[in-house]
Amino acid sequence: MVHLVQSRVKAYFLDKEGSHDWYHIKRVLELSREIHAIEGGNKELVELCALLHDVSDHKYNGGDYELGGAVAREWIMDAGGSDELANQVSLIVPKISYKGANVEDQKLPIEGQIVRDADRLDAIGAIGVARAFAYGGSKNRPLFNPDIKPVMHDSKEAYLNAKTHTVNHFYEKLLKIKDRIETASGKIIAKQRHEFMVSFLEQFHSEWNIKASYDDWFKS
Ligand code: ADP
Ligand code: NI
Repeated sequence: MVHLVQSRVKAYFLDKEGSHDWYHIKRVLELSREIHAIEGGNKELVELCALLHDVSDHKYNGGDYELGGAVAREWIMDAGGSDELANQVSLIVPKISYKGANVEDQKLPIEGQIVRDADRLDAIGAIGVARAFAYGGSKNRPLFNPDIKPVMHDSKEAYLNAKTHTVNHFYEKLLKIKDRIETASGKIIAKQRHEFMVSFLEQFHSEWNIKASYDDWFKS
């Protein structure tokens, strides 16, 4: 059954933009399996949540955060999965997405924590840098604008409607991820990927303006 779902997901994501393509789903699936091997939980549930976590992403479905659960449920039923499994997945999927710097994450069972961690780990480090600029490019956003500072959003609506330059996305989300990872194994992976992003930003700011370090820009 997981294989059937996987084929459908792969076909659906194959031609999507680089930040949210099939390889993003595949990396989240593989990282989720690695974390699951250490943390435990229901493996099938982990795999299905990883495969289905972005099937109806709010950024691409007109801003509906809840639709993802219903679509995931339908795809599991279509593949012959049980009602119980479909229900469990449909409750986890809408809680995976990041909703703003000042918006608390919703509680998840271990299977959901694993997939949310894996999804967030794929948003940081070298791949995170690549994905952020791919996404920004797809929306025709500037790389950076020193006059527009980051905003810590208090609601998912404000976060979703923000259309800023891509460097701000690091301050508004990507640098926050390290402290929002829940599993012990995820935290270890996050530390190194976070450090890489910090050094990327330092280099970026030093090339942009010889005088400004990454800290100076953020605080100025
Ligand atoms: P989540 O999986 O928590 O819902 P998103 O799908 O919003 O997260 O974002 C996944 C990735 O897409 C981000 O980590 C980033 O690489 C890219 N992305 C999303 N929004 C932006 C943005 N405003 N600027 C740059 N990249 C973005
Ligand atoms: Ni994702």
